[in-house]
Amino acid sequence: MHDPAPRPASFSAPGPLRGRATVPGDKSISHRALMLSALAVGESRVEGLLEGEDVLATAAAMRAMGARIERGADAAWRIHGVGVGGLLQPETALDMGNSGTSTRLLMGLIASHAVTATFTGDASLSKRPMNRVIEPLALMGADVTASPGGRLPLMLRGLCPAVPISYRLPVASAQVKSAVLLAGLNTPGITTVIEPVATRDHSERMLKGFGAELSVEQDGDGARVITIRGEAELKPQHIVVPGDPSSAAFPVVAALLVPGSEVTIANVGLNPTRAALFDVLRAMGGDIEFANRREVGGEPVADIVVRHSILKGVETPVESVAAMVDEYPVLFVAAALAEGRTVARGLEELRVKESDRIAVMAEGLRAIGARVEELEDGLIIDGTGGDPLPGGATIAARLDHRIAMSFAVAGLVSKAAVTIDDIGPVATSFPGFAKLMTDLGAVAA
Ligand code: S3P
Repeated sequence: MHDPAPRPASFSAPGPLRGRATVPGDKSISHRALMLSALAVGESRVEGLLEGEDVLATAAAMRAMGARIERGADAAWRIHGVGVGGLLQPETALDMGNSGTSTRLLMGLIASHAVTATFTGDASLSKRPMNRVIEPLALMGADVTASPGGRLPLMLRGLCPAVPISYRLPVASAQVKSAVLLAGLNTPGITTVIEPVATRDHSERMLKGFGAELSVEQDGDGARVITIRGEAELKPQHIVVPGDPSSAAFPVVAALLVPGSEVTIANVGLNPTRAALFDVLRAMGGDIEFANRREVGGEPVADIVVRHSILKGVETPVESVAAMVDEYPVLFVAAALAEGRTVARGLEELRVKESDRIAVMAEGLRAIGARVEELEDGLIIDGTGGDPLPGGATIAARLDHRIAMSFAVAGLVSKAAVTIDDIGPVATSFPGFAKLMTDLGAVAA
């Protein structure tokens, strides 16, 4: 996990951003690639894996439960799986660091194995709600003893054989959906998840790719009904992980905002359940093109070409919240530079991410001179119309990588540099962020 000593960094931009860059592999896909490979029978190979702390926490946990996981000199990862049902009892607590995805998905996997595991995490993860996964997994027979409020540290005792359930998601969460589907892998019979609001579908795509019997249908109300047949046998795969659109969001917004910029971000995953930010930025007047569209590892991919643009405020579409849930912090920075008012609502879930992203963004944007009103479920932002923000403040990133990177972007469009109190958490999802930005022309000190 990252060095606990805070590492401050200041960001500014003396001129336009220019050039071509590649962002690291998709975090959601990387977690799932490791987990499913570790449950396949035989050796899988994963290229382009995100080597960030969150994903390494998943790798360490799968190793602790018996998988053999190695990184080759060619940067490809080889994973020898134990087979569904074959997870071993970990000898020590599983340290999940900052990673909500590792925690919730692994809780699902373990719930239907004869394994007892203790989950621990950092100060940010230890504040996040786990009842949303504890509830369905308890219905399947898992026994969980959590800290008050359903938080980490917690101990989960799996049940084998577990009980198949049909579960309607009370919150739009790909993590909860995936936890139940992964528990269903080793549960006899059919496990069903009903998803009234579609969330990222990487688990469904990848489970099918590994040979699980999984179907997705729409019910009469338009909800997605996902079924998986348990006691599955997964076949090893060769997976190529595309670049993470949630990471690409930072240089894309930076290039839109810094006058004179033109940047290409190559090889970005554009799964429609993830890519709504780019549609919203285009609706705001952003000059964004998708070149060289292709398919990589069953996911749509393109190179994103982006040029400086004067943006206009928007009302962000509530139906797209799930498809850009991690991108609001940096969208708020774009809105702070746009002409007119941006209203973003329906964002209750942002309050339970790595930090309370509504409150932390409102406070930080105000500190650098933006006009922001905080609502219970979102923000109203009155933009500058392209004029730089005053800047000059130090922002508390609160162990939240996306807050740190959003204010780094804000520094590039502020009169005085913006300082992030601790850039360390960026290593959870985007190792090499500062170098990528400085290679494009930003200054980080
Ligand atoms: C993720 C799902 C989302 C997202 C997170 C990654 C995933 O969380 O915010 O960064 O990989 O399934 P929720 O399921 O809480 O919406």
